Amino acid sequence: MNTPGAVPPDKAVAVAPGVHWVGALDPDLRQFDIILRTANGTSYNAYAIRGTAGVAVVDTVKAEYADVFFQRLWSCCRPEEIKAIVLNHLEPDHSGALPELLRAAPQAPLYISRPAFAMLKGILKDGLDPSRIIATEPETRVELGGRSLRFLQTPYLHWPDTQCTWVEEDGFLFSGDVFGCHFCDPRLFNDKVGDFRFSFDYYYQHIMRPFREHVLTALKLVEPLTLRLIAPAHGPVLRDAPQTYVRRYRQLATPQLQNEAAERAKTLLVFYISAYGNTQQMAHAVREGAESVDGVRVSLYDLAGGETAPFVDLIEEADGLVFGSPTINGDAVKPVWDLLSSLTLVNVRGKFGAAFGSYGWSGEAVGLIEDRLRGLKLRVPRPGVKVKLIPTAEELAECATLGRELAEQLTGKAGPRHIDFSALHARSA
Ligand code: FEO
Repeated sequence: MNTPGAVPPDKAVAVAPGVHWVGALDPDLRQFDIILRTANGTSYNAYAIRGTAGVAVVDTVKAEYADVFFQRLWSCCRPEEIKAIVLNHLEPDHSGALPELLRAAPQAPLYISRPAFAMLKGILKDGLDPSRIIATEPETRVELGGRSLRFLQTPYLHWPDTQCTWVEEDGFLFSGDVFGCHFCDPRLFNDKVGDFRFSFDYYYQHIMRPFREHVLTALKLVEPLTLRLIAPAHGPVLRDAPQTYVRRYRQLATPQLQNEAAERAKTLLVFYISAYGNTQQMAHAVREGAESVDGVRVSLYDLAGGETAPFVDLIEEADGLVFGSPTINGDAVKPVWDLLSSLTLVNVRGKFGAAFGSYGWSGEAVGLIEDRLRGLKLRVPRPGVKVKLIPTAEELAECATLGRELAEQLTGKAGPRHIDFSALHARSA
C-alpha cells in the first residue's frame, strides 16, 4: 500500500522551486556501518540545485541505489546541464554513484574539501583526474545563475573531509551527515513524517558526539545563518523550523553535568569491580591518595552496581580515569571492558588514565587496561599497581601513591618523571 504523500519511486521530488531531492530510500536497513541500529531504515539524500546557468548536484547515494538516483536525477535535469558536482562527504553511502556521475557529466568539476583529496584517491583509484577537482575554501563560490554555492568547512563531522554547502540566496544548508538521522519515511519532509526525535538524538550520540569540540566549532558557522531549510544527507528534509535542529545540536554538545566542585577543580573518576574485596581495598587507597592533592574532586564507583551509560556521561567531563579490575582467566572482567568499549562514544583523547587490580595467578588485567587506555589516546603517565591477592599495607600505600601522582598530573603539580629503566625491564619480562 502506498503511503499518502510518499515520494514517487523514480522521480525527483521538489524541495523548493529549482531544488530537487534525488536520493534513495532504504527502509529495510536495520544496521548501519555494522554498529549503528537503524530501526526505521535510512535514506541517502542527494540534491539537484538549478540556477539559470546550470545545475549543481550535491552528494550521491550508496552504490546499490545508483539506478534510482540517476532515474530521479535525469527526471529533473540533463547531464550536459550539470555545472558542478559537490560531495560534502566521501563515505561510501554518499559517494557510491560518484564515479558514474563523473562519467555522465564530464564537463562538471567536483567540489570537495581539501582533506577529502586523499580519500577521493582511495575511491576513484586510477580514475582520478586531478584537473577536475576543486578544493573548497571559505571564499569559494560556485555561480549557478541567481543562486550560488558556498562551503562551510566542518571537519570531523564526522570524518576529516566533511563540509556543508550553503545557498545564501535561499537560506538553504546542504549539511551532509550533520543534522541528519537514520529515519526513513517516504513522506520525506520533517513536517510530514512521524516523530523522529529519538532518531535525531541517537544519530548525534553515536556519530557526532565523539567530535563534540568540532560540533561546537561548526555551530559557530551555522548559527549566524538565516536558515530557511536544512537538507541533510540522511533522514527528513528539515524545512519546518530548521533552527530548532541547530539549537538541539547546541544543547546536545553542551556539557550537561553541573560540576559542583570548586571552579577549575579537576575531576578524577575511579572505577573498580572486586571479586573478594581486594581490588576494592585498592580502589579506596587510590581515592585517598588522590584526595590528598588540593584541587581534585575524586569520585569512586563500583561497576558491579551501575549501568554504563551514566558513567559515559561522567567520563566525557572528567580529567582523569582510573580502572581497577581483578584478573580472571588472564583478563580484566567484563564490566570493565563494557565501560572501556563504550568510550568510543566520547572524546577521551588526552585525559589521564591508570589501572590497578588484585590477581591470583598472573595479573594481566592491569596491563591490558593500560593498553586499551593508550589505544584510546589517553595519557598513562605511570605504571599501574597490581597486587597478588590481599594487599599489604605497603601495597595499599603504593595504590595511594598512584592516586596522588595521577592527581598531581591533573593539577600540573607533578615534577619531571624519573624513569627507572630497570623497573621497566623487570615489568616487561
Ligand atoms: Fe552518511 Fe558518514 O556517511
